[in-house]
Amino acid sequence: MTHGSERILVTKISNQQEETIELPIIKSSLGERGVEISQLHKKFGYFSYDPAYMATASCQSDITYIDGEKGILQHRGHNIEQLAEKYSFFDVIHLLLYGNIPTNHVREQLISSMADQISAIETDYIVSIISSFVPTDHPMAMIMACLARMSAEQNEKFHSIPKEPSNVDQICMETICYLLRVIPIVGQYVTTGNTNNIALNSSVGILENFLNIMLNKTNDQNSVTSLDKLFILHVDHEQNASTSAVRSVGSTGVNLYAAVCAGVASLWGPLHGGANEAVIKMLQSIIANKEDPASYITKVKNGSTKLSGFGHRVYKNYDPRAGVIKKYCDIILSDSKSNERDMLELASVLEKTALADEYFISRKLFPNVDFYSGVIYKAIGVPEAMFPPLFAAARVVGWTTQWKEMVLSKEKINRPRQIYIGHTRPALHHPL
Ligand code: CMC
Repeated sequence: MTHGSERILVTKISNQQEETIELPIIKSSLGERGVEISQLHKKFGYFSYDPAYMATASCQSDITYIDGEKGILQHRGHNIEQLAEKYSFFDVIHLLLYGNIPTNHVREQLISSMADQISAIETDYIVSIISSFVPTDHPMAMIMACLARMSAEQNEKFHSIPKEPSNVDQICMETICYLLRVIPIVGQYVTTGNTNNIALNSSVGILENFLNIMLNKTNDQNSVTSLDKLFILHVDHEQNASTSAVRSVGSTGVNLYAAVCAGVASLWGPLHGGANEAVIKMLQSIIANKEDPASYITKVKNGSTKLSGFGHRVYKNYDPRAGVIKKYCDIILSDSKSNERDMLELASVLEKTALADEYFISRKLFPNVDFYSGVIYKAIGVPEAMFPPLFAAARVVGWTTQWKEMVLSKEKINRPRQIYIGHTRPALHHPL
């Protein structure tokens, strides 16, 4: 466990007595190493204290690597820029879940098997669950309800989490396909107030069907390509809030649909996957109020508002996903309506102003993936409320892959401890 000649020694000094323990170093293949701290509690009776997990690794993982200082993101060793440039969403699903980029033949097999699974999903109950909401309700709540319904069914089927890799793979794929079926139906309901046209067209691909059902869009290759790229960029991001929620809930042994439901809830928040929705609302409000971008930045610096889509817990440099999206914005918006072009121009001005400002420079705040993704979704015709669901349609690949890693590595139940600071009274019962 030790790393070269480096050692981590912790000395406790109490009543002039010294006791030193050596904490094992956990090696990494890239980036920061870890320190295994269980001895701190066993030997000294102290917990480590790290609110919001600013300096805590919760697991060892070989799925995704981020170097936040350098702005690097890799999935299974492949740079995100190359994945977005050269490969399809389905190649990346295979890469995450099975560990390698598929050959053409294997990719076609994967797509055909996913298409079969998607078309076999019964939709009557999905429609009835969605219809119990009003179309103006938030679609993330509708998706969670559909997942809750499916988790009840799975609970009947699996009394314990399977340990066989092939069974685990099958459950992951079923869950991915389920969301790829549910989310466009939710999108149609939010957009039109009904679910009348949800039949799949077997002569077109999975993403074409996704767009047809959600937005009644057919033969729009530009939109299909945009969706494919955005899904690749959102596919996984190591131990972010929603992935940690999935792993933590999943570590209790509950079925994957229930764990993914927790992921959707976590992703919904404006600090996480809801940020793309918040960015568009921010841009629309600045345009509607004819507000000067510089004065908006001043308000951000005063603390009266946030610059949505800026800043990141891990990236202290340009989020590489934002760089890729910005490039596609220019291509995709070339033939789009002036509203989106206005939003793109405003976003560019806000970015330029912020990146030249000491407030943002000193805090290392850069645009993140969500600063520009909403502009593309808007250009495709997606309503803002559906941005977080589209994030979920891609991130379910990361959630399920991370759950698979957790299950196969037999991770224990996640159970953090606390430092109690409440009232003190004598205990009524003392253990014998
Ligand atoms: N606008 C203005 N100030 C900001 C922003 C922002 N968007 N982000 C961070 N800051 C300031 C923050 O006020 C703090 O200042 P001070 O040191 O004076 O108190 C400093 O920068 C450090 O920020 P923090 O909130 O302590 O950092 P964090 O790591 O806890 O939070 C974050 C990260 C993403 C929640 C935060 O940057 C944020 O709220 N950003 C806006 C929401 C957003 O775009 N979220 C999407 C993240 S990327 C997609 C995803 O994977 O979810």
